[in-house]
Amino acid sequence: MIVVRCGIILTISFMIVYNQISVVKCYDHDTREGILMSELLEIIKGRKSVRTFDGRQLTEEDREKLERYTETITNPFGIPVQFVFLDAEEYRLSSPVISGEKLYVAGKVEKKPYADVAFGYSFEKLVLYAWALGVGTTWIGGTMKREQFEEAAKLAEGEMMPCVSPLGYPANKRSFRETMMRKGVGADTRMPADKLFFSGSWDEPVTAAMQEKNRELIEMVRWAPSAVNRQPWRIIADGNRYHFYEKQDKGYMSDKTGDLQKVDVGIALCHFMAGLEEKGENEEIEINNPGITVPAGVEYIATAVVRC
Ligand SMILES: Cc1cc2nc3c(=O)[nH]c(=O)nc-3n(C[C@H](O)[C@H](O)[C@H](O)COP(=O)(O)O)c2cc1C
Repeated sequence: MIVVRCGIILTISFMIVYNQISVVKCYDHDTREGILMSELLEIIKGRKSVRTFDGRQLTEEDREKLERYTETITNPFGIPVQFVFLDAEEYRLSSPVISGEKLYVAGKVEKKPYADVAFGYSFEKLVLYAWALGVGTTWIGGTMKREQFEEAAKLAEGEMMPCVSPLGYPANKRSFRETMMRKGVGADTRMPADKLFFSGSWDEPVTAAMQEKNRELIEMVRWAPSAVNRQPWRIIADGNRYHFYEKQDKGYMSDKTGDLQKVDVGIALCHFMAGLEEKGENEEIEINNPGITVPAGVEYIATAVVRC
């Protein structure tokens, strides 16, 4: 069994204090008061993939904040993710779905079990932090010339680069292509909570009372981004334990990317743990399969434990 202290550095309070915008009360660890869950929820629900940028370079200040922030990012799996900032023009980088971008960030991780989950967890911290700064991103795992990005990021033997993202300021209006893409994957919708959250066993959808009690946490997970908006995470709640599973679809796994749907589960875990932290809970992640019967094609990933 692996137990890892969560230690999410990215909380909305941190983001705002870091940016010296004092609109959020910080969490008081002694009184357990002053949490504004709604602010984190707002960031998570408000974030959208940005594929149409306004053509401006990032300001030096924003770029420096982002670069500095990446140096602080950790994940509960203890697998470091390295971030590389890449000038689009210098390295001739582009994506057929992105326009007006000047900068990309690529993430690299050593190939090993849980590397994809850890990657999702860490990269999403950057995505949320960027959004809080007013900087748009889009997770890109497919729509790019991968070799060009890997070469620019100096990917080494034994490493993988599951995704990259553009970084820039959103244009006033989305391109027609972006609008059509969003429609195609239903990007503005998510599955209802009772299709994602279960109570004690796979067959028992979460009760209305439990949904009400954990409303914000559930919303944070629901609104996580995922490849082709498939939302492959499933969560079985059992007392103070939340077991995260991956409901696998075909076509998301390769040697170059790892399993992109495990990256998605890592993103969902990041949102859930950030929400718990905002609530002032004492939370950690363990990898300890509870042995609950699940259908074929569903794989246990990790458990979020809320300690009293
Ligand atoms: C792991 C991962 C890979 C993705 N790959 C791509 C991609 O290659 N191209 C793209 O345009 N969007 C990609 N996306 C973005 C998703 O399509 C998007 O997150 C989803 O449709 C939900 O929309 P939203 O991010 O605006 O909420 C990816 C997202 C994730 C999490």
